[in-house]
Parts: sequence; C-alpha cells; structure tokens
Amino acid sequence: MLAGRKILLIITGGIAAFKAIDLMRMIKKAGGDVQPILTKSALEFVTPLTAGTVAGNPALSELFDLGREAEINHIELVRDADLIVVVPATGDFMAKMAHGFADDLASTAILARDKHVIVAPSMNVRMWEAAPTQRNFQTLVDDGMSFVGPDKGEMACGEFGLGRLAEPDVIFAAIKDYFFTFGENLPLKGKRVLVTSGATREPLDPVRFLTNASSGKQGTAIASALRAAGADVEFITGAADVPPPDGVNVTQITTAQDMYDAVHEALPCDVAIFCAAVSDWRPKAVGDKKIKKNGDGTAPSLEMVLNPDILHSVAQLEPDQRPQLVIGFAAETNDVVKHAEAKLVRKGCDWLLANDVSAGSGTFGGDHNSIIFFDGQGHQEWAQMSKAEVGQKLTNQITSYLKQPD
Ligand code: PMT
Repeated sequence: MLAGRKILLIITGGIAAFKAIDLMRMIKKAGGDVQPILTKSALEFVTPLTAGTVAGNPALSELFDLGREAEINHIELVRDADLIVVVPATGDFMAKMAHGFADDLASTAILARDKHVIVAPSMNVRMWEAAPTQRNFQTLVDDGMSFVGPDKGEMACGEFGLGRLAEPDVIFAAIKDYFFTFGENLPLKGKRVLVTSGATREPLDPVRFLTNASSGKQGTAIASALRAAGADVEFITGAADVPPPDGVNVTQITTAQDMYDAVHEALPCDVAIFCAAVSDWRPKAVGDKKIKKNGDGTAPSLEMVLNPDILHSVAQLEPDQRPQLVIGFAAETNDVVKHAEAKLVRKGCDWLLANDVSAGSGTFGGDHNSIIFFDGQGHQEWAQMSKAEVGQKLTNQITSYLKQPD
C-alpha cells in the first residue's frame, strides 16, 4: 500500500518516543521506506540501533557525522522523501518548527522541507494548553502542516487531559490517507469506482434471516487495491467478517433492495464492480413477530419473491448514465465456464469474474481465489492467488482499459 513511498520520520524526545518504533513497523509492513532522524533528546528514549534496525536504514541524529567525515546532506534527505512525519513532537520541537530554528539535523530538515509534514504532538496537558504552544500550533497549521492528536487521557506524569500521543495505528492511517488524497501519478486518480461486497440478509421475522457465506474479503481486497491506485471508491457492503478498507466511502446495507437503492444513489461512476453475494429472492412476507411452529407439527412453508437484479439494472442503463465498465462476478458450483458465459450475456456486463464456490473450494470466506476472467471476447484462467492479488490484478486491468484511447 505504501510501496515505494519514502517517509522521513523525525523522532523527538518524549516518553512516547517508543511508539514511533511501532509506527515504523507498520510503515515497513505496508511496503514503505523509513528514514529515521532522532533529536538529541530522543536518544534518551530510543537507541539509534533499535530505530535503524526496525527502519532498515541507519538512524541519523547529528548534522555533522564524524564517521562519515562530511556534513549529512539534509537537503537531499528532504528531497528524497515523499512525506515528513514528526512522532512524537515535543513542545520544544513544535516551537523550533514554528520559529524556523535550525540547530540540529531534525530542525534543519524541517526548515529545508519541500514536502508535507504530519505532526503528532505529545506533551503534558499544561504544556499543550500553554499559550505559546497554542500559538505555535496555529502557526504550523497556517504553514500547511497537518496534525494527528494529541489525545486526551492519563499522562505519564499522572495528570489527565489533552497531550497524549495519538496511537500509532491512527498516525499510520493519516499517513495512508495523505498518499490517497494527495499522492501524485496514481493511475486511477480522479476516477470514481463503485464496489459492492459482502452478504445481503433477507429477514423472515425479527430474529431470522436468509443469507450466504460471503465474508466480504474479496470485495474489500478489490476496493483496497482501487483506493491505493488513487480511485475514489464508493463501497457498498452487506454483512462481512472484515472491516472496510481505509479511505473509501462506506455505505452499510442489509437487504438486496437496500443495496439496489444505495447503488443507484451512488451513481454516476466510471467503473462499477459487483462482488457482493446478493440474495436472488426474499420471503414474500416478513413477520413482525417470531414465526411459530405449526400447531400440527409441520414446518411453515415460505413463499419467496424475486429481488431486483442490481448488476443487470446498472448494465442496462442508458449510455449517458451507464458506467464505462460494468464488472460482475459469477459464483458457480458446477460447469463454471458454461454458466459464466451465459451470465455475462444475461446480465449485460462488460467483464465477469467467475469463481468456483463449490464445497471444498474455500472461496467463500477463504483468503485465496481462482478466477476465470471473461471480457466478452473469450476467457482466461488466472492462477490461484490471494484475494489481495486478485484485487491488484483487476485494478491493473481496469487501469489499462481506461488508458486506452476511445
Ligand atoms: O466474500 P468472500 O468470502 O471473499 O467471497 C467472495 C465471493 C465468492 C462472494 C465473490 O467472489 C463472488 O463470487 N461474488 C458474487 C456472488 C454472487 O452473488 O454471484 P451470482 O452468480 O449469484 O451473481 C452474479 C452477479 O450478479 C454478481 O456480480 C452479483 O453481485 C450480482 N447480483 C446477483 C443477484 C442480484 N439480485 N443482484 C446482483 O447484482
């Protein structure tokens, strides 16, 4: 998700400095590159060895490094980075940034910056609320920096209030959000993509419903890859076992009719992908009280009515309203190719991703999928891969398609 992104991480000297190490791990895990800079006081809390080992880059601290017999090129450090993050930012360092002091490597890098800066402050509540800190905060906001936290809570010094460092996962989310929102050269920047995901639920009575085993993993992985490629994603989801990806606009629905309404509300879009497992029918009558057993010992029978076909309804829209690409899925338990070919025509979509969902396939709820991809010209079998890789491959195909001249 952060592949190829370079983050200059400035760690200043606060009790919460150790949390910067957790943040580094998250950035590295997401494929990002971290260059740590530790201020002199940060060295009291974090060793350069720990920071450098976790980052995979030597932790820098001094403006002049005798070992290198040269001045560290702070300008190059900043030019090389895509984003600067200060975690934790002490009151002292905020003051330095606000007033343009440049007496160590960290403050010099800030003064020489040509990149966005995210600041996560951490200090005692009185220090945070102090007029000079609040003035510095306003100056830094006016200078274009963005802030994560501080949070309210108990402090290491025993006092309570605003000043705690935001949790590393929240700072990490802000970093990802920065790249989603401001990242340049993302292939799907400016494209609006709708993704349906998860399982619909059709109520029978207040305590029972008809559903299926979709976990939402495949739809979520697709939405996540599209978002990472810069698309604005409308994510319309039924019940799911996994949370929606970061940075997408989520609409939570219950029934197929809710999903139909939400999809049509979210139009227009450039691309629409229908990965949700939607119930084809629903009980004709929904009891407002729990359905009881029949008095004669027989089970009650259910009368069903058809749900609207969401994919079909979008694929049939007039050209001025229809997404440029309408992509369906086909969940089949047998004769996958034959059924999928017929489904592509019947639904009127442009592409169709068929997957085998027979017992033992592990497709529903699993982490892998084996796709047969139909584009109206023929079909290709994709090797079995993770659902994340399916999301990435589909995103690449969409990107190539949208790049083609009309
Ligand atoms: O969620 P996971 O556990 O990761 O599993 C992923 C998946 C198996 C659910 C997914 O890969 C998948 O196959 N999704 C489509 C499930 C489905 O409803 O297939 P279908 O063959 O019944 O429907 C065909 C297409 O029509 C689908 O795009 C479906 O979203 C759409 N549809 C179906 C019925 C309906 N009333 N409206 C629709 O839009």
